[in-house]
Formats: sequence, C-alpha cells, structure tokens
Amino acid sequence: MQDSTIWTEKFRPQKFEDIKGQKKIVERIKAFVDQKNMPHIMLAGPAGVGKSTIALVIAKELFKETWKQNCLELNASDERGIDVVRNTIKEFAKTKSLGDVPFKIIFLDECDSLTKEAQQALRRTMENYVMTTRFILSCNYSSKIIDPIQSRCTIFRFKPLTEEDIEEYVKKIAQSENLKLEENTIKALVELSSGDVRKITNILQSCASIDKNITEELLYSLVSAAEPKEIKDILTLAINRQFIRARSLLLDTMLKHGLSGIDILKQIQKETVEFEGITDEKRIDLIDKCGEIEFRMVEGADEFLQLEALLASYAK
Ligand SMILES: Nc1ncnc2c1ncn2[C@@H]1O[C@H](COP(=O)(O)OP(=O)(O)O)[C@@H](O)[C@H]1O
Ligand SMILES: [Mg+2]
Repeated sequence: MQDSTIWTEKFRPQKFEDIKGQKKIVERIKAFVDQKNMPHIMLAGPAGVGKSTIALVIAKELFKETWKQNCLELNASDERGIDVVRNTIKEFAKTKSLGDVPFKIIFLDECDSLTKEAQQALRRTMENYVMTTRFILSCNYSSKIIDPIQSRCTIFRFKPLTEEDIEEYVKKIAQSENLKLEENTIKALVELSSGDVRKITNILQSCASIDKNITEELLYSLVSAAEPKEIKDILTLAINRQFIRARSLLLDTMLKHGLSGIDILKQIQKETVEFEGITDEKRIDLIDKCGEIEFRMVEGADEFLQLEALLASYAK
C-alpha cells in the first residue's frame, strides 16, 4: 500500500535536537523550557524555516503528555476576527493549567493576518492573563504586529536554512524513504527552495511518488521552473544574435514547464546576474531592462512581446 502520510508532518521535528539551523534561537528557547518559565514569544521570519515546529516542540517538551490540554493552537485558516480573541482565547486563558507548569500556552500562528482590532483585543488579553498564560505568536513580518504586542514579547528572528542544513535534512529523508539523489539534485533543490524546508519536503514527496531515483530532470519537470541550463542556452543564443532560435527556444521552454512570462523573466534575471561572458556594464543594463519589463508585465502588457524586446536587448 502506498504511504499516504504527508511528509511535512512525518518529518516535522519532535525535539529541539531535531531542528536544523536556528541554533541560537533553539538554545535560548530550550533554556526557557528547562526553567519551566518563559516570556511571551514572537517568532518572525519567512515560510518553512521552523516557526510552527518550534512552537509545538515548546508545548510538547514543557507539558509532555498533557500538552494538548495545556496548549491552544489557532491557525490562520481558523476564523480569527476579534470575536475569536474575545471568546475562544479568553475562555482558554481563564482556566488554570494542568500539571506542574504554572501557565498554559496559546499559539497563534501567522499573526500577520490578524486585523488591527483583533490585535488590540489580543494585547489586552495578554495583559489580563499574564499569570496563567504565555503567548507564542508567529508571523512573517514583525512590523505587521502593533507595537504594544511587540514590546510585550521576546522576538526571535528566523533565517532561511543554510545549504548545509538543507543538505542534512534532505539526506535524512532520502535515507528514511530510500530515495536516490545525486549531488546536483540536492544543489538544485537548495536553489529552488530559497531555504524554505516545507517547499523542499513537498517537492521531494511529489518526485518520490513518481520515481525513487530523483534526477535533476524529474525535479524540474515537477516544479514550475526551467533548468538553469535551459535559460543559459536561450541567453547565449540571444547574445550571439541568433534571435529567431532564441525566441523559439524561449517559447518551447515556457510551454514545457508551464511558465508564465513573469516566471521565466525572474529566472532570466537570476541567470543574467551570474552569466559569464558579458561585461559588467552590459549586465547592469540588462538587469535594469528586466526590472522595466517586469513592471510592464504587471501593468498588463503582452508578455511575449515584452520577452522578445528583452531578447533583442541581449542581442544589441
Ligand atoms: N529548522 C527546521 N529543521 C527541520 N525541519 C524543518 C525546519 N523548518 C522547517 N522544517 C520542515 O518544514 C515543515 C514546515 O515547517 P514549519 O515549522 O511549519 O514552518 P513555518 O516556519 O512556516 O512555520 C516542517 O514540517 C518540517 O518538516
Ligand atoms: Mg507556520
């Protein structure tokens, strides 16, 4: 029978030791847990770097088998207007914790999406129930959270995982799932993910459902991105003034991977930054041009016409 568990849950770290990267953050938070005392905490940073994971580890390590009774978790997908803050959160905050930890935990995931009114109500709840509850708030940008909440929290800023951390993580999954990955497949994964481990895990699971031998080609056929080499080939043709061939390869590549104009433009921009064999002056011009064309596309200009204009400026 096919294993139907979602890998992001299957491989979600259950202990502090299993969390990759974020060393300083884990160290400080673990110290709070060891003392069974902690401030309100805000976890800020990009997607898929371990924010929700660490919040759940805190609850599990603090409360052990009673963690479910002592921790209320609310996701962005739940209804979270001001009424939820007023009712659900208050009801939970009012009653005493079970066991030897003198407070309960309320984990509000993805707080960026709370309205300002809800944030105001949350701030008052944080004040009123500080003896019996601690809040863990997660968000992408701490600047979206009102100052009075920020100032009540110890803020931890998460960073995208490094290449080495990602490699370690990928190798662990590969071992447990009997996957075969070449070194360059791992490199491509790191490139594609920008340090978002959730994205990596999902890509790996989709690849594995097709073939346990995960090649770079399989990888790129499943994500909507062209292989870096394909983009380089297009640019090389354009620079060598093989305009018609460059244009038809561009179109083929877009169709093959189901890319929009903006998708491929972003990849072209990235490759231009690293492209060998052009002067820095030319590079600056082209990167500037990419920015201009992105703006026009967003404003609704014909994507393919804009891309042709871009290729023409490579040939110039
Ligand atoms: N630092 C990390 N160490 C190990 N796995 C991680 C890490 N960050 C993310 N993951 C993996 O990615 C998935 C999503 O992580 P999560 O903590 O939910 O991200 P977010 O920062 O968006 O809350 C987890 O289930 C886990 O498999
Ligand atoms: Mg999260």
